[in-house]
Amino acid sequence: MTLKEREVEELTEAALREIAEAGTDADLERLRVHYLGRKGAITQILRSLGRMAPEQRREVGRQANAAKEQVEAALARRLEALKEARARRAAPALDVTLPGRTAFLGRLHPLTRITREICDILVHLGFEIAEGPEVELDFYNFEALNIPADHPARDMQDTFYFNDQVLLRTHTSPMQIRVMERRRPPVRIIAPGKVYRRDSDMTHSPMFHQVEGLLVDRGVTFADLKGVLTAFVHQLFDPDVGLRFRPSYFPFTEPSAEIDIACVICRGQGCRVCSATGWLEVLGAGMVHPAVFEAVGYDPEEFTGFAFGLGVERFAMLKYGIDDIRLFYDNDLRFLRQF
Ligand code: PHE
Repeated sequence: MTLKEREVEELTEAALREIAEAGTDADLERLRVHYLGRKGAITQILRSLGRMAPEQRREVGRQANAAKEQVEAALARRLEALKEARARRAAPALDVTLPGRTAFLGRLHPLTRITREICDILVHLGFEIAEGPEVELDFYNFEALNIPADHPARDMQDTFYFNDQVLLRTHTSPMQIRVMERRRPPVRIIAPGKVYRRDSDMTHSPMFHQVEGLLVDRGVTFADLKGVLTAFVHQLFDPDVGLRFRPSYFPFTEPSAEIDIACVICRGQGCRVCSATGWLEVLGAGMVHPAVFEAVGYDPEEFTGFAFGLGVERFAMLKYGIDDIRLFYDNDLRFLRQF
């Protein structure tokens, strides 16, 4: 590289560096004049080409023309960058007139809500929450609950079996046995959870939820059962909703009852929901059968108790006016957002 060539190269580098560092339009204009003006450094080199030997002229000419283009482009780019920076500084950092970003709020599933409401009321009445397995042994689900081997509930039609000893619990009542075999009275527990039956239509789902209740102590009577369940239903629905205790049968309670409430839709007048009877069955209950106490080693002469079971979906359908049980499991946000 000749001396002249080195000079052009250094000149170009200096020009590009100074342009990059220029902070104002005026600085840029001064640099333009200094390098490319009529008497500018690069202009002068171009002018001096005529005095050079042909060899050198070709080489330096090519180099100086390239330098001129490069410097012109750098000036234009820097001018544009300064303009953009000015525009950015002028604009407010935050445009408060823009619409806000919607925060998507989660909500509780209606079954979670009603389960919590049910449990809250019962916990305030003195019950403690107990939880247990959904995959259950025949012993807890049937045997210890005084459900004989030929009982229809044991039929393959109704129960999901893994094998002849292991099944999906068909109710939360096995929790009565699991709690009692671990402790001595007084026992006051509720057991919320999933249960499974081979059943599926508008009002039945193969998986649904129950809340079980059990109270065992000395001197517990049917009057206690009535008092607790009446207080519970009045708190959950309405303090003056009508209540009816009807004789019924469960293998693990004696005597047994089914509890109806006056239809919450027609208030007892008779409608489609209550099949024109004015009543809705909401609970199964009864005094714990002596055979159940014997299965867990409690002396039925010393202790008495009551148990009850309710279907969570049924309570939610009545409380929120829902007519198809499948809506709970579809996860349709248009449905779920209403709660
Ligand atoms: N386990 C019974 C059912 O699933 C309900 C029930 C529970 C009845 C406790 C009486 C006592 O239908």
